[in-house]
Formats: sequence, structure tokens, C-alpha cells
Amino acid sequence: MKSQDKREKILGEKENEEDIILNMSLRPARLKDFIGQKEPIENLKISFQAAKKRKEPLEHILLSGPPGLGKTSLAHIIAGEMGTSIMATSGPAIERAGDLIGILTNLSEGDILFIDEIHRLTKVVEEFLYPAMENFQIDFIIDKGPYAKTIKFNLKRFTLVGATTRAGLLTAPLRGRFGMFYHFDFYEITDLVKIVTRSANILGIPIDKDGAEEIARRSRGTPRIVNRLLRRVRDWSEVKSDGKITRDICLKALKSHGVDNLGLDFIDRKVIHTMHSSYNGGPVGIEALASTMNEEPDTIIDIVEPFLLKIGLIKRTPRGRQLTGMAYTHLGLKKKEAEKELF
Ligand SMILES: Nc1ncnc2c1ncn2[C@@H]1O[C@H](COP(=O)(O)OP(=O)(O)O)[C@@H](O)[C@H]1O
Ligand SMILES: [Mg+2]
Repeated sequence: MKSQDKREKILGEKENEEDIILNMSLRPARLKDFIGQKEPIENLKISFQAAKKRKEPLEHILLSGPPGLGKTSLAHIIAGEMGTSIMATSGPAIERAGDLIGILTNLSEGDILFIDEIHRLTKVVEEFLYPAMENFQIDFIIDKGPYAKTIKFNLKRFTLVGATTRAGLLTAPLRGRFGMFYHFDFYEITDLVKIVTRSANILGIPIDKDGAEEIARRSRGTPRIVNRLLRRVRDWSEVKSDGKITRDICLKALKSHGVDNLGLDFIDRKVIHTMHSSYNGGPVGIEALASTMNEEPDTIIDIVEPFLLKIGLIKRTPRGRQLTGMAYTHLGLKKKEAEKELF
């Protein structure tokens, strides 16, 4: 499907092999390389120093925000800055409480346990985590029926770093066991320019200031998308030009990939267009919208909606999402020709 192709290339959450390898080389390894998000970073620095001074592990930390903003990177940086090891897993990967026993009992004092997509833990696994987070203890149940016994096992004092795109889905008892919460917001253009320049340097891609700015402006406030667009533009430039990235090259390359001047891609425009043509601009619930579009609600909730809300093309109302005047202007929705151009 056409929309799926574009999504895979530009925004898709699924990373292919190339993404994985490049992401490793582009992922900031230390705090000094981590650009932007000043407020959480300043607070974290203070926590690092305080914990080191007291010779205690960090409190459990919850990182939330849309995909691609640096949550996983920061989890690794935290371990690096504290000089400890990190064990990384994810909510969907831990199927049974038993899967956690091996992980937890292998952690040393101060180690980081990183659980990505922590909102997707099952209830049983989540409840198994409570005493581990709170008292650094886990309860094993051995035998069954009348002979069943609970054995307590003491763990080393570790730090759980959880990441989620949906802080709102976390249960209150789980949320309550974190000592620090940091919400990541979309990045400022100036920070994205720094990120694209840093990535181009690492990959040895020649880029001028205007080119960097153009990629930054069309990256939906998201470092991961900065890096993807940079590669797409580089490919285009190497085939169609001399390999150097300028504003003109960006405009042409991104146009050919369907990324517009606000950074919207095919699927963002499809959301707006569907809201307009099938729901008179809303209000409409995400589930209904997703089913009309034949898309996963998660894709719309995690990727499309936060950015459209942020730049003011849609708004939330008690009865669902609604298009704003800006959305109509941006897509020229009243003009039939513009609609034809979209699809
Ligand atoms: N603050 C940052 N500075 C520089 N690069 C960043 C930053 N945040 C993210 N990135 C880049 O974006 C990519 C995706 O970040 P990641 O940590 O995987 O995001 P998340 O876990 O929030 O989805 C990283 O591989 C890295 O190259
Ligand atoms: Mg991540």
C-alpha cells in the first residue's frame, strides 16, 4: 500500500537493519552529546550528583513522550553517566513474571533496568514489579495448592528506567513507584539544526546551513526523523546532484518523498483529509477515524496526533478531535484541485 510505504520510510516506528546500525552510530552516548530538552537534563544532572554524593542508586525514573525524541538514548546515557550497567527490555517482551526473575536477580547495585513501552506490561508482571521497585525484594511462590510457600528474595538496589509514549495508560500504583518523571516535548528548530549538523558530521555528509535548517524544519520536532530525512536527502543528492546538501536539494528531495513544508507526510494529510471529507472536520474519535482510514489507531495516537496537535492543525474537544482553520488553510481544503493533488 502506498501510504504504508511512505510511513515505513519516513516515520514508521519499525526500524530496519540500516536504521538500527545508523542509529547506533548517531545515538548520543554521553550527556554532553545529548542536544536540547534542557529542563529534564538539568534536573537529571543534579540527581546524578546527589546520588553519587550519597553513594546511593538513582530513584526510579519514568521517561514519557512521543516516539523518536531520545528516551532510549537517555536511558543508556544515564547508565553511562552513573558508571553502571544497563539491562534493556520492553513491556511486550516480558510475557510472564518468571521472565523477570532472571533479569532482576542478575542486576548489581546501581544497575539500570530499562523497560521500554512500560505501559504494555501485563497486570501480573506489573504487580510482580511492585515489591522489586519498592523494597528491592521479590516474592517467589514455590509448590502448589496447600504446600505453596512464598519465598522472599532480596535484590540489589537497582534503578528502573521506564519509557512510554502513553504516560496516561500507566496504572496509579506503578506511576507512584517512580521517584522522577520527565516528559519529553518536541524539539525546538535550533536544537534540531544542531542534531542534523552533528549527524551529518558523523556520517561525513556535506551540508550547508540552509540545508540543515530545511531538514530541521520538516522533521516534526523529532530527532529520529531528522536522521531519516538526512539520509533520504543524501541518497537523492548523490543520485541527482553532487552529493552536497543545500536548501534547494532538500526542497526537491523532500517533495519527492511527500514531506511538505510543515513536515507533514502522506498519512498526516490523509488524516486531515479524512476528517474533512468523512466527518465534516470533526469532532471525531480516533478509533472511528482509524477504522475509516484502515490504519492502526496506535499509529494515529502515537505518531500523527501529537504533532498535529502541537502545530495547531487539530484540537481536542470533549467529543473528539476537530480540524482547525489552519488545517483548512494549509491543505487548501475548499479547492477541488488541491484535493486532487493529495491523492
Ligand atoms: N537529544 C538528542 N540529541 C541528538 N540525537 C538525538 C537526541 N535524541 C534522539 N536523538 C537521535 O534520535 C534517535 C532516536 O532516539 P531514541 O532514543 O531511540 O528515541 P525514543 O526512545 O524516544 O523513541 C537516536 O538514535 C539519536 O540518533
Ligand atoms: Mg525508544
